[in-house]
Amino acid sequence: MRIACPAPNAGAPRSRGRGFRVSGRPRILTGDTPTGRLHLGHYVGSLENRLALQDTYECYFLLANMHAFTTRAAHPGDIRRDTIEIVKDWLAVGIDPQRSTIVLQTETPAIAELTWFFAMLLPFNRVMKNPTLRTEIDDKGLGDHYSFGFPMYAVGQCADILTFRPAMVPVGQDQVAHIEMCREVARRFNQTYCGVDPKTEDKDYPSAGGLFPIPEALVGRVGRLVGTDGKQKMSKSLGNAILLSDDPKTVKKKVGQIFTGRQTLTEPGDVSNALFQYVRAFIKDPGRIAELERRYAAGDNIGDGHVKAEVAEAVSALLEPMRARRAEFEREGGDDEVIDIIKAGTTRANVLAEDTLHRAKQVMGLDFGPRRLS
Ligand code: TRP
Repeated sequence: MRIACPAPNAGAPRSRGRGFRVSGRPRILTGDTPTGRLHLGHYVGSLENRLALQDTYECYFLLANMHAFTTRAAHPGDIRRDTIEIVKDWLAVGIDPQRSTIVLQTETPAIAELTWFFAMLLPFNRVMKNPTLRTEIDDKGLGDHYSFGFPMYAVGQCADILTFRPAMVPVGQDQVAHIEMCREVARRFNQTYCGVDPKTEDKDYPSAGGLFPIPEALVGRVGRLVGTDGKQKMSKSLGNAILLSDDPKTVKKKVGQIFTGRQTLTEPGDVSNALFQYVRAFIKDPGRIAELERRYAAGDNIGDGHVKAEVAEAVSALLEPMRARRAEFEREGGDDEVIDIIKAGTTRANVLAEDTLHRAKQVMGLDFGPRRLS
């Protein structure tokens, strides 16, 4: 026997947590793993989109602190510190906890429960072939000694997302493989437990009776920002990152390190090099970008040093207001304020998360009574 899935927005959670309103707006969910401070790659890949969508979408931003334990289980103190730092980065870029909901993964039990159910809908080998996981295993040199929980995080990420039944997931390019897996899980769940026809088009799953929408990845204007080494993607662990919290002097130094291999001012330059990726990503005036590209390509008496100075200035101008906002939380008592924001957001998020879990259990024949988290 099949139990009809309730429409995803029917009986949406009522106002319960502090200030929680049912907006009726479509939702987005995305998140960051607290493994260090955020950098420019995060900004152009995802943060910028989050800011742009803050008013038109109901936004949930997840602190994936459980995922941090997959590689750093022995360092809980670092994970706690980085969790708080990431919230400061979010607030610094302009994420507004009044408008958006900040969610702590480890205090959202529905995510952990759905992870288990979703793990049963994905073949083991499918998870292990996930290209983002494979790259991470290589990049972090995990060999074959990673924990059982490490690949599990990819399944967990499907639950992170679907718990909030979002329309979209703003992410950098490296996360698209995870979103694809999440979409597969959503289809399979809907087909298996909600009786949705496998031939249904992705956008029609909710109207065909599915509990979960098939969420779309929304990749930022620069999906993959190259690091200052000019080779790999920007990443804190590779030591090639410009952090959102770096001061102007540090920005200047790091931009100065961007490698191009060019020797003279008159040598025709390659505008597809790392430096020009930064020119296009951070210099605002399109006319100036075109001019720099033209002169550089022609070897028209323009040195890397000059271009770097302009890039550093543009980056610092972008970061300046962030530094000011961050400073507010860096004073005495700032951490406590951040923790209060995390708690308030997570309380709000659990209303929706519990509602999703309850609906999922209903259609799985596991409706043994509602539960209330206090
Ligand atoms: N894996 C993501 C990263 O490392 C972080 C993340 C966890 C996430 N859960 C998510 C991103 C859900 C989007 C949606 O950047």
